[in-house]
Amino acid sequence: MEQTDWDDLKAAAVEVMARAYAPYSSYPVGAAALVDDGRVVVGCNVENAAYGVVLCAECGLVSQLHAGGGGRLTHFVCVNGAEEVIMPCGRCRQLLFEHGGRDLLVWTVSGVKPMSEVLPDAFGPDDLTHVTDARGAGPDAGGDN
Ligand code: THU
Repeated sequence: MEQTDWDDLKAAAVEVMARAYAPYSSYPVGAAALVDDGRVVVGCNVENAAYGVVLCAECGLVSQLHAGGGGRLTHFVCVNGAEEVIMPCGRCRQLLFEHGGRDLLVWTVSGVKPMSEVLPDAFGPDDLTHVTDARGAGPDAGGDN
């Protein structure tokens, strides 16, 4: 993707950032991502009087991804109220990994990087399907019980 395309994606994040509901932190966030079918999905943070209930911008983005038909995220950026690129929080890196995997490209504070670098050795869907018995040969092998 060209820098101009990244700039367009960032502009979408800035636009939705302006619709954030962040009365408690006064820290609006906007997120935008390209989907593998060409759609652009966006989200903004939505806070709550019960502070811990906050929905990060990425939550809205992932909801829009699925509400609009699903697909895989290929390119992602999020911004703060100063229109600066910020890093997705730890929880949201996990959300993004679920829907974009290792190859999702993220515009980070230190340039564009794949998710494999933004969330190294991530736990993901594959871990649920590749379970190896710690003793190597099934439930009755080798143990003391
Ligand atoms: N926030 C996001 O929306 N996404 C992130 O990845 C970082 C943090 C929001 C949550 C909260 O509303 C505000 O930023 C301050 O933490």
